[in-house]
Amino acid sequence: MPGSRPIPTASARGWAIDPQTDTGVPALSGTPFSLAGRRVLVTGASRGIGWAIAQAISDAGAHVILSSRDAAVLADRAETLRDAGGQADIAAFDAATEAGASAGFKAATEQFGPIDVLVNNAGVGMRKAMAETTMTDFDRVIDTNLRGPYVLIQCAADHMAACGTGGAIVNIGSALSILGRENAALYGASKHALAGLTKSLARELAPSGIRINMVCPGYVETEMMTAQRADTAFDQAVCARTPLGRWARPDEIGGAVVFLASSAASYITGHLLAVDGGMTVSV
Ligand SMILES: NC(=O)c1ccc[n+]([C@@H]2O[C@H](COP(=O)([O-])OP(=O)(O)OC[C@H]3O[C@@H](n4cnc5c(N)ncnc54)[C@H](OP(=O)(O)O)[C@@H]3O)[C@@H](O)[C@H]2O)c1
Repeated sequence: MPGSRPIPTASARGWAIDPQTDTGVPALSGTPFSLAGRRVLVTGASRGIGWAIAQAISDAGAHVILSSRDAAVLADRAETLRDAGGQADIAAFDAATEAGASAGFKAATEQFGPIDVLVNNAGVGMRKAMAETTMTDFDRVIDTNLRGPYVLIQCAADHMAACGTGGAIVNIGSALSILGRENAALYGASKHALAGLTKSLARELAPSGIRINMVCPGYVETEMMTAQRADTAFDQAVCARTPLGRWARPDEIGGAVVFLASSAASYITGHLLAVDGGMTVSV
């Protein structure tokens, strides 16, 4: 049964822990922030922000189902979580197509049991001026960042309503769900649309006891941003524009997702939580 397994301690995961106060007891155990007993599907969990979210969710005590298109990498990631004392399985599917997302979600529930939390993290970046974008670019960004998440929300909402236990959905947006910038219109449109879904569906899903929220990261050091990080002018602009003066590490996004997925956020729905070093509240 979920929740009966030992939960890895924060120190087992290598987080910065004060040895004077670390008792070896999982930090969230017995608190409203704990995800013990929950089963959580995380898309885009093979690397970057999704992998960091999967680790944070595992640390919070949940059974994590890691998803992306790459079964071999996912298997390796799941083993890492299990080695640390977590419960983890994989569900490999293409989340950008209707058929892939719906069949993948169904297979995951059939294989592993009811899913309590969906984290819609899989996404692609696009840094191009509108004049350079093609409709192939359009389809790729919209299919991955909007169509796939929409299909998965539909599947999860149906499934959670049928289970009758409610649930939580956390979408991963962006500072570009809130702001605009040059060379990012298509990406920003996809992330603004996901914010729109989050707000409207908060109303629609509440009667079924399902909360839906969004975490909006600023600039995060992941593979998606490799080219931007190598671009000195871009890197300096990010640091200058961000009150905390630096890019985020992927592991700095997971805590917000755990919070919104947990019963600590039981009265929060339709919310956009910026995890952006203060970027979206400053000029
Ligand atoms: N990095 C940033 O600065 C930043 C800032 C704000 C928001 N975000 C958002 O955070 C999320 C994660 O970004 P990241 O930086 O971690 O990106 P990343 O390192 O490029 O990882 C993207 C993840 O999405 C998965 N994915 C992509 N297309 C997929 C598809 N068709 N089907 C299934 N999985 C797919 C990839 O898995 P496979 O390739 O293994 O399938 C991978 O696990 C995205 O939604 C992104 O828009 C990122």
